[in-house]
Amino acid sequence: MTNSPLIERWREVRQRSLQLMAPLSAEDCVAQSMPDASPMKWHLAHTTWFFETFILESFEPDFQAFHNAFRILFNSYYNGIGEKHPRPQRGLLTRPSLDQVLAYRLNVEQRIEKVWQTATSKQLVKLSELLELGVQHEQQHQELMLTDIKHLLSCNSLFPAYFSHKPTAAIPLAPIQWVPFEASLLDIGHIGHGFCFDNERPCHRQFVEAFVLSDRLVSNGEYLAFIEAGAYQNAALWLAEGWDYLSSQKLRHPLYWHQIDGEWYEFTLHGLQLLDKHQPVCHLSGFEAAAYAQWAKARLPTEFEWEYAAGYTGAETALSQMFDCCWQWTSSSYAPYPGFEAATGAIGEYNGKFMVNQYVLRGASAFTPTGHSRTTYRNFFPVTARWQMTGIRLAKSLQAT
Ligand SMILES: [Fe+2]
Repeated sequence: MTNSPLIERWREVRQRSLQLMAPLSAEDCVAQSMPDASPMKWHLAHTTWFFETFILESFEPDFQAFHNAFRILFNSYYNGIGEKHPRPQRGLLTRPSLDQVLAYRLNVEQRIEKVWQTATSKQLVKLSELLELGVQHEQQHQELMLTDIKHLLSCNSLFPAYFSHKPTAAIPLAPIQWVPFEASLLDIGHIGHGFCFDNERPCHRQFVEAFVLSDRLVSNGEYLAFIEAGAYQNAALWLAEGWDYLSSQKLRHPLYWHQIDGEWYEFTLHGLQLLDKHQPVCHLSGFEAAAYAQWAKARLPTEFEWEYAAGYTGAETALSQMFDCCWQWTSSSYAPYPGFEAATGAIGEYNGKFMVNQYVLRGASAFTPTGHSRTTYRNFFPVTARWQMTGIRLAKSLQAT
């Protein structure tokens, strides 16, 4: 079987990772700016390791690793596979070189093509499932490549730009409108044939009371009003852990904001830009999102409210910025759906083992690859995470009548 939409998409996604690397120097690709972020070179190698480990090792009769050391260096978190290089020290991997990693990519790609072309129809079922997962996995890493590069470049006093083109100015915003949703017993989670991650299953029922959801995200201008109202000095607005976090980290504004000579600027992939007050506020911890909601006399939506609204007929016209700007913090802890079962073997470590001490974010962001988002998609991060594309959509409960 030489061609199919899946293998074509796999080729495109592999190519896309190289396109994301194109504006960077070899030095840009090696550095790691913090323990949570990974170097571009590591992302390029790890996404290849995934195909080598979960496909080639099972499907090649005479499998041999491209390089035995890569099995350890580029294993992210799969204990079932074996040893791992420590995550906070990925930026110390000056060897293998970027060229060697690119050769690794090419080698694994050629071997995947061969496995695909020689697979029996029985093998194709499992192979297609794993190839799809590898494509989705690489797309997840493509978003991380951009967020991690953004963080790295933000640490440089010269504020270098990743993009060479100019940013487009946001269109002026109308005040937030509140979109009402009736109380309902919902089917939550993924159902049907298309791809989803295991954490979106099984589809199950959840009851939500009547609520309203903001038709757009909170803007930079609105968040600036929150700062100027003294919110970062007002403990009453913050969750207890949030107040401690903000005090210990001395937080006073979103991650990439800078105040220079009385003007607010924001570091973006276009370099340092005057703060665009009409753009959605981005790069906030869950604590900041919750405090803003408190100040605005609203709250964060639950993940079930968000999914209900996103799948509602007419939602595309009533609600904007659901998938194209920032992930939206919810008040829902990242937990298994009733009846959740992780896959057997190491691949089962993909999502399930992270279901503790994290919150669900819904939607998608400007950095999410095209075609990767879904209404049932569950992203998740610790409440302190700020380097991801995280913003705020507000909700309010309606009184029962
Ligand atoms: Fe990964």
